[in-house]
Amino acid sequence: MAKSKRISFLAELCKGYETVLDIGTDHGFVLKEAFDKQYIKHGIAADLREMPLRQAKGNLKNYPVTYRLSDGFLAIKEHFDLAIIAGMGAYLICDIMDHAPKREVTYLLQANEKTHILRDYLRHHGFIIIDEYLVFDRFYYIILKVKRGQMTLNEEDLYLGPILKIKQESKAYYMHKIAQIDKIMPQADELRKDELKKVRQFYESVKLW
Ligand SMILES: C[S@@+](CC[C@H](N)C(=O)[O-])C[C@H]1O[C@@H](n2cnc3c(N)ncnc32)[C@H](O)[C@@H]1O
Repeated sequence: MAKSKRISFLAELCKGYETVLDIGTDHGFVLKEAFDKQYIKHGIAADLREMPLRQAKGNLKNYPVTYRLSDGFLAIKEHFDLAIIAGMGAYLICDIMDHAPKREVTYLLQANEKTHILRDYLRHHGFIIIDEYLVFDRFYYIILKVKRGQMTLNEEDLYLGPILKIKQESKAYYMHKIAQIDKIMPQADELRKDELKKVRQFYESVKLW
């Protein structure tokens, strides 16, 4: 059974891929659901730490999974066609992506916050965002589907998302972001206020309504 909408959504996005590498697998739930739904044939469960990897081993007993203690991609020698890096901070995901393979691979990246930092990294490091998904699971989560390639994003795109900004479902998310900004604005110092006003304007400018 799905642990959360976010996990289910990530598992769903594995459909059609052969071998999925899950970096920072922790409990291994994404791979488990992808196997249970018969979306994938092989999995590589990787984590920086022993404890989470042990949890994944427990949850994925008798599934065709290879386990790797690895800092990001560094100890991964096996072939994979999809890599997931989810549920971490944007800066950590950027650090991990510094060592992404040069060959053709698809990535699902989901930062817990500051997705604009991740988009900024991607545009400067030879990656292209091929899709963006919004999942509401108590909080809003943004999942980026990414490949190697070139893209141009302006500052507005970093916040709105080049693809999310043309999806009708993003409206509720942008309104939520505006409300969040309005809440923190009174406590912000002048410099931060200017930054918040600029970002608020990006959200307000979207022509989805
Ligand atoms: C909050 S959990 C996210 C679990 C799962 N990916 C999800 O989306 O629910 C983060 C996991 O990433 C692992 N991690 C942190 N830094 C890592 C790195 N550099 N390489 C691999 N795993 C890492 C942690 O040990 C932890 O198990």
